[in-house]
Amino acid sequence: MKKVITYGSFDLFHEGHYRLLQRAKALGDYLIVGVTTEQYDEARGKLNVVDSLMERIEHVRQTGFADEIIIEDHVGQKIEDIQKYDIDIFTVGSDWTGKFDHYREYCEVIYLERTKGISSTMLRRQGFGIVRLGIIGSGRIAGRFVPELKYVSGINAEAVYNPHIESARRLAELNELQIYTDKLETLYEHANAIYIATPHNTHYSYIKDALLHDKHVLCEKPIVLKKEEAEELFEIAGNRKLVLMEALKTAYAPGFAQMITIAKSGNIGRIIDVEAAFTKLVRGNGREFQKEENGGSFTELGSYPLLAVFKLLGTDYQSVKFTTFVNSRGVDLYTKAHIRYPKAIASIKVGLGVKTEGNLVISGTNGNIIAEAPWWMTKNFEVHYEDTEQNEKFFSKYAGQGLRYEISAFVAQINGYQSKKIFMTNKESIALSKFMELFLDEKTEKEIIYMEK
Ligand code: CTP
Repeated sequence: MKKVITYGSFDLFHEGHYRLLQRAKALGDYLIVGVTTEQYDEARGKLNVVDSLMERIEHVRQTGFADEIIIEDHVGQKIEDIQKYDIDIFTVGSDWTGKFDHYREYCEVIYLERTKGISSTMLRRQGFGIVRLGIIGSGRIAGRFVPELKYVSGINAEAVYNPHIESARRLAELNELQIYTDKLETLYEHANAIYIATPHNTHYSYIKDALLHDKHVLCEKPIVLKKEEAEELFEIAGNRKLVLMEALKTAYAPGFAQMITIAKSGNIGRIIDVEAAFTKLVRGNGREFQKEENGGSFTELGSYPLLAVFKLLGTDYQSVKFTTFVNSRGVDLYTKAHIRYPKAIASIKVGLGVKTEGNLVISGTNGNIIAEAPWWMTKNFEVHYEDTEQNEKFFSKYAGQGLRYEISAFVAQINGYQSKKIFMTNKESIALSKFMELFLDEKTEKEIIYMEK
């Protein structure tokens, strides 16, 4: 019996897939089809797969060509499968010609002519239309964000706005954007979604204006600095059926999601303590050091450790104690917060110009999870138990600047697919805004230490 194997995502099952499977089956007597998991697709950079794994398997099954369907979930699996199933022929479409020649050591390799004029990528585009993105702000963060857009299908940067048109022009030229402007109306004409990367205290009015112009919004963290403002904005977005999403990259990173899931699975027992730190050595006189722009270590970096705490312990904390080091202008440069929950405690540290070991440590009644800095770009973490033989280490992909994951989630939310995959809830964003408000409120009791005295 001649055994044939082939692999694919088979998203939005189309004619090209059907013809490929038909010919693959005709090559032998028994056809095995490997269908990729979402995680594996994500890891290899395919971020916008629409159909669930079960749906994709079902579509392959319905063709009647597959004698057996397996799941592909890791690099290197193809060679394992070829040996395990005693495969005679490995086949894929001609878009892969040459890429699998080294498998000839194990079996015959056949590239089948790809069906012209159709692909899942094309269907995803047609089905959902391209998200036309307008960018508000053209500083450092926008400069890192725009190049990541090309890794996500279905979204295109159309125009950039900055009241200082020179800055908008620079970003546009660097990234080959057609339009730059100092008029919001011009931006809105070219966009159906807006990305906001401006100083924190300008977010509220930009978000509101964009939502009232019926644009979806992705806004840099912290989305706003007041709970009421966050509630109002999410309500407007909800009423208008628009997506409003906080651009807190960690929340969308595959490794972070995996770590949270493991922590909450019960493996390490009940979570008693979360310690999270994010510090950065930054010099100069930038926005993050300006009191008028609500600069400071807490507004700049606090969202990351708070996200971890809220994901692990929820948003219903009982009390908070701050100790903060401020400079002569009253801007916080290093802040510690102890957050008390009914049955747990969390402590977070953030700093601009002070360097701690920026670990994330999750302590439970049965073990702990440790992620080393930069844990906010989660690439690996360890799970430790009393019996060290049980310890495990996990690795995950975190490609580029990692912004492509939040962009991909934004596109998916707008198009209404993967909508069950919630990375960051409105409730969490509102709780983050509330926490910023608490910290910035002069009435909140804080232990203040002046650094320069
Ligand atoms: N395939 C084909 N003809 C097409 C599209 C795909 O023969 N027009 C083949 C691929 O070469 C591969 C298999 O179908 O062997 C599964 O491909 P997959 O990557 O799932 O489909 P694409 O449409 O290429 O997906 P995408 O656009 O997401 O890359």
